[in-house]
Amino acid sequence: WLKYQTITNTDLAINYNALVKHAYISQGSPTLRNAKKEVELALSKMLGDDITFTNEWVPENTLVVDVYDNLSKDLKSLIAEEIKNVTHEGFLLKSVNYKNKKVTIISAKKDIGVLYGVFRFLNMMQTHSNLNNLNLVDNPKLDIRMLNHWDNLDRSVERGYAGFSLWNWQKLPEYIDERYIDYARANASIGINATALTNVNANALILTPMYLEKVKALADTFRSYGIKVYLTARFSAPIEIGNLDTADPLNADVKLWWKNKTKEIYEIIPDFGGFLVKANSEGQPGPQNYGKDHVDGANMMAEALKPYGGNVIWRAFVYSEHDETDRAKQAYDEFLPYDGNFMDNVLVQVKNGPIDFQPREPFHPMFGAMKKTPLIMEFQITQEYLGFSTHLVYLPKLFEEVLDADTYQRGEGSTVAKVIDGSLYGNEITGMAGVSNIGNDINWTGHPFAQANWYGFGRLAWDPYLSSEVIADEWLRATYSNDNKFVEPVKSMMLTSREAVVNYMNPLGLHHIFDTGHHYGPGPWVDNLGRPDWNPVYYHKADSLGVGFDRTPSGSNATEQYAPEIAQKYNDVKKIPEEYLLWFHHLPWDYKLDNGEILWDGIALKYQEGVDQVKDMINTWDNMKPYLSESEYREVAMLLEIQLKEAKWWRDACLLYFQTFSNRPLPEGVEKPT
Ligand code: GCU
Repeated sequence: WLKYQTITNTDLAINYNALVKHAYISQGSPTLRNAKKEVELALSKMLGDDITFTNEWVPENTLVVDVYDNLSKDLKSLIAEEIKNVTHEGFLLKSVNYKNKKVTIISAKKDIGVLYGVFRFLNMMQTHSNLNNLNLVDNPKLDIRMLNHWDNLDRSVERGYAGFSLWNWQKLPEYIDERYIDYARANASIGINATALTNVNANALILTPMYLEKVKALADTFRSYGIKVYLTARFSAPIEIGNLDTADPLNADVKLWWKNKTKEIYEIIPDFGGFLVKANSEGQPGPQNYGKDHVDGANMMAEALKPYGGNVIWRAFVYSEHDETDRAKQAYDEFLPYDGNFMDNVLVQVKNGPIDFQPREPFHPMFGAMKKTPLIMEFQITQEYLGFSTHLVYLPKLFEEVLDADTYQRGEGSTVAKVIDGSLYGNEITGMAGVSNIGNDINWTGHPFAQANWYGFGRLAWDPYLSSEVIADEWLRATYSNDNKFVEPVKSMMLTSREAVVNYMNPLGLHHIFDTGHHYGPGPWVDNLGRPDWNPVYYHKADSLGVGFDRTPSGSNATEQYAPEIAQKYNDVKKIPEEYLLWFHHLPWDYKLDNGEILWDGIALKYQEGVDQVKDMINTWDNMKPYLSESEYREVAMLLEIQLKEAKWWRDACLLYFQTFSNRPLPEGVEKPT
């Protein structure tokens, strides 16, 4: 989306050229120099070479790019009112008349705001927006806008489908790959300001001096793009690399070890963001190994980080063997009792839903319920349960659904977005994390359309109230074409792609029926794994009587973790939105759906609908040939063919399996399995 295609529409080019004859860009700091480089690159690519880049600003059809404090008195007075509304990372784009000449100002209080303003301005040009009468103040609504890389030190990437890790640990710190800089540019262009470099299933070695030197090199590269580095901290690091015989968070030597380690890190990376921690989940070590709890563990690290302004991001994804009846309840049960006990530099990072990044989940019940602890949203951008980087699935649609969900925890309108932006409970620090889908593939993300998921995540982390449709529009125009005959059909293809994958994988609230380990293809029949909640049969509970997980009071009663308004709605089979039906209810095969179909037929028809939607996607893409290069067309066309084959695979496998319980024929309209 930073390819800055030449603007061939003559009217528009003339218009833009008239607007920007000269560009004055201050270059007082590395961040402002980045802004200057970006403007020069972008304008020369989009508009040609007629623009003069001046060191003295000329009051004539000029683009002025600078922090407010550096502007001349005259210019300051023209934006004095608006700049008051700009926060420390925000920016102002304003068209002004200066002595009867048009001047476009990109300004901010801080350098980083200027860089963000530049990227937004360039994006508006890329999307052919009207730039004549700008008056836009835009501030990020969340503080920490972060990627979580699940990258290992051997460069494999957990749940990564786009090649190996970008971080070339072997050549670091001396060798700075150009892609680190492009990575930083891409992130800054959408407002991402933090990155956790390493896997949450952490390796303590990253905290040793040898690796910290390498981390420093990356932090130094990212700094001028406004990006702070975080590391995942393995809870048992004091034992593994510190020669202690315990990692007990209340042990004095352990506390001292973390204090010293933190000091060592800040000495070389003064703006280090902090630690991201997965503890006592899926076999990872944590405070519970020593009979202590999440608060003991998180606060011990928070104390070490506090003097330097660093944060602990403590994950709520706890998934342990001690689970009783329902895995979906575990995080809430474990964390709610601690609300209010964490230090103020601890943030608890919660996955969007209570299980694990399924194609569709209800929102996580911790949102809104945990009232005194700042919660960070954790989305998964990498498509672990959504067809890897082979299937085209536009995720901002999923993200938007979660952010818009109403928790009712402070009455109607208590949306998840309001929980995480701090407006519901007045949190001091706010944030959103996305598990990265980036690797060293030539196109970064494997599937070309998976770039839209990275892009969309960043935009929603900046403003969780943006619509997924607007984001798709921006991305398509910048990445492919501004022709509406291309943009409109492809945009609607993107917007339906998420529902398509739900339909052909997990319709009507079915979930976690993926084959073991890889989570790619179907495996609803799997029933032989060591723990009940590893087996898909645990989640669908199909038998001759029906299908679905009863999470109402007659079952696991997971609904009680939601506000009463939601619990009542979800408990009532007549009121629950059908997309969550089998997530919360076990129902007979002949249960009547809203449209009069029986459940079995409804499930089968949904699987078919998913397949049909992929067929439509293929048709749409075929019609787009005139707007695409041969390779652009072919790459996606081939991937869509695989997606169709695999949508059918899902449909056939799941229906043949569930049919052994339902004992009913496939309804009319569902293709026979091949
Ligand atoms: C999922 C995923 C794991 C990952 C875990 C986590 O379970 O399959 O690979 O480690 O989430 O979020 O910690």
